[in-house]
Amino acid sequence: MRRKIVAGNWKMNGSKDLAQTLVGFVRSRIASLDNGVEVVIIPPAIYVGDVIGHAGDELSVGVQNVGQWGSGAYTGEISAEMAADQGCQYALIGHSERRQIFGETDTVVAEKVERVLAGGLYAVLCVGETLQDRDAGDAEAVVASQVRAGLATVAPDQWQRVIVAYEPVWAIGTGKTATAQDAQAMHASIRGVLSEMGAPADEISLLYGGSVKADNAAALFAEPDIDGGLIGGASLIAEDFVSICRSVPANI
Ligand code: 13P
Repeated sequence: MRRKIVAGNWKMNGSKDLAQTLVGFVRSRIASLDNGVEVVIIPPAIYVGDVIGHAGDELSVGVQNVGQWGSGAYTGEISAEMAADQGCQYALIGHSERRQIFGETDTVVAEKVERVLAGGLYAVLCVGETLQDRDAGDAEAVVASQVRAGLATVAPDQWQRVIVAYEPVWAIGTGKTATAQDAQAMHASIRGVLSEMGAPADEISLLYGGSVKADNAAALFAEPDIDGGLIGGASLIAEDFVSICRSVPANI
């Protein structure tokens, strides 16, 4: 079902202390929001238990990655089943940092999406073009190809647990955000690709990520095909993150 979601990706940041103070603060503030936003905290896997301990019913929790296998001799990896077992509901897959730094290919991304969905979690597939792609006029084609490849194995009854996060690589951690119009155009294009794939495209939540801050979130979230955001740096600052959650309009 298409929902309004704001998710905070802590990346490799945080501590037990942050899990307590930030999650406690966010939880207490969002309880009074009436815009229907679902708020998700995505800490490093080692802090998932701490975050869940402080999240209550108000917040959902996710992991930033899972292995593409069920279990076994994969030192350092965690599985989708383990994340679900701990109480997570979401998993990011194919974040550009995973693709660029850890060499995750579209094939690996698709395998991970399959594991996440089989494990009963929501899969948040991250896609986005580089500046080079955009300058060459290839942004929509690159993103369309990542969507098609990453979601190639989704079964008809699993689409309800698919979310796509559009994060232009050049906007991540740079302070450069896509304009609301450019982000909307890409989201509409992604929805078109999903529709071509036979997915119930109007039911799928599409999130924008890349330098979303308290002062630019409202303009992005006002666009018709942007159903919320995936927030990096600003999700580590409790007041800013709450302000971003508050920026989701009640009518999308
Ligand atoms: P920033 O909000 O820090 O640009 O990060 C975005 C991101 O990569 C979220 O997954």
